[in-house]
Amino acid sequence: MTFAVDVVVMAAGKGTRMKSLRPKVLHRLGGRALAQHVIDCAARLSARSVVVVTGHGAHEVEAGLRAPADGGTALRYVRQEPQLGTGHAVQQAMPVLADDGVTLVLSGDVPLTRPQTLQALLETCAGQSLALLTLDMPDPAGYGRIVRSPDGAVQAIVEHKDASEAQRRIGEVYSGIMAVPTAWLRAWLARLDNRNAQGEYYLTDVVKFAVADGRAVRAHRITDPVEVAGVNSPQQLAELERAQQRRLAESLMTQGVRLADPARLDVRGELSCGQDVEIDVNCVFEGAVELGDGVRIGAHCVIANARIGPGAVIHPFCHIDGDATGVTVGPGALVGPFARLRPGARLGREVHIGNFVEVKNSTLADGAKANHLAYLGDASVGERVNYGAGSITANYDGANKHRTVIEADVHVGSNCVLVAPLTIGEGGTVGAGSVITRDTPAGALSVARGKPVTVPDWKRPARKKG
Ligand code: UD1
Ligand code: CA
Repeated sequence: MTFAVDVVVMAAGKGTRMKSLRPKVLHRLGGRALAQHVIDCAARLSARSVVVVTGHGAHEVEAGLRAPADGGTALRYVRQEPQLGTGHAVQQAMPVLADDGVTLVLSGDVPLTRPQTLQALLETCAGQSLALLTLDMPDPAGYGRIVRSPDGAVQAIVEHKDASEAQRRIGEVYSGIMAVPTAWLRAWLARLDNRNAQGEYYLTDVVKFAVADGRAVRAHRITDPVEVAGVNSPQQLAELERAQQRRLAESLMTQGVRLADPARLDVRGELSCGQDVEIDVNCVFEGAVELGDGVRIGAHCVIANARIGPGAVIHPFCHIDGDATGVTVGPGALVGPFARLRPGARLGREVHIGNFVEVKNSTLADGAKANHLAYLGDASVGERVNYGAGSITANYDGANKHRTVIEADVHVGSNCVLVAPLTIGEGGTVGAGSVITRDTPAGALSVARGKPVTVPDWKRPARKKG
């Protein structure tokens, strides 16, 4: 593209039908705010800047969005108070836009427009025409209609409420997205008025000024309504969520990922997969998740911010949440069913974490196992350690957290309490039911529990008669 692109995102509207305290454009789709999808899409077009027009909930909206990660696109905000229509919204952005570029107008509540569609619209504009994104709707009620002359040239956009009966029969509608040389836009916006059925300043009136000025008006007509669908209600949000998930599932399957059912997958962040990954039904992936080659994820797992090494198997019903710290699962590890890995869980190669085991801020070296009903918090667990059922690290003394070190080849029996700070020396054994409060030497057997007592021929008390 030989011209600079500045994007204006209209996001000042109220979103009454969401019936939510949260501003509409901050509602999440695929784990990201609606308007964030729009901003990130602008970045993929290598836009020079994005100007978000805020009004309702402006503070919250401005705090809830971030500039695209690549750093090449500047993010700015302008306020529109009160909201007097889409033309008025774009007017607010004009002071911060330079006349040498093309303005691409988007809406903060239309999240699923593909970058390549906008690219095509910008090519239609080419810095030399007003380009409108349009499509044919089976039920065009509510939309602005594209009025063409007999030779097919676009003459005007007429809003539904202002349209004649004949115009209402037009199936081609304006999507809400246009690209226009900024200098022209500035001049046309200055000529807007609000003498129409809604008493609003319509952005769509720029079309008639373009025609009057003899400027080219061109339509880029698309067919997929999902690309321009807006979110006005929880129902529409849920519909677009499924559409987005379907797109993600398609792209994963195209890469070779085997999904048991593409309709039962939710990715709310970035999921990257190696070769021969299999994902069973009803799994949710959040934040940044990496699945290595040959990973298998069982049904009903929730996995956030984690790296799962090649060949690892996550059995059904696991909750893995790395949060800001992350979780790593080593190659060939087996996790679950019903396991919980919390931030800072670092599992080495072929570690086994079984049912009802919780691991937090702990490193398990290669081949370590905790197969049943256990807690490991703030622990360093050596290679090949076997950590028995029902055992826990008592890492919290009510005020501070302390570390437990379990050296290589230790065997911790069932139902032990390891009271941190504590080191269990290499190759040691801790007898079942022990409460260990002091370091133990390498190779030792440590037992701390009541001595078993056996009374032979013990007669239980008998019930008194009469
Ligand atoms: C608009 C178009 C219509 C098109 C339709 C597609 C106009 C006049 N009409 O109609 O031709 O078919 O989109 O969906 O542009 N907004 C503001 N400030 C305002 C008003 C709106 O920021 O003062 C924002 C809204 O929050 C929303 C976007 O602009 O994100 C579009 O506004 P909306 O009221 O939905 O426009 P429509 O009347 O549906
Ligand atoms: Ca709308």
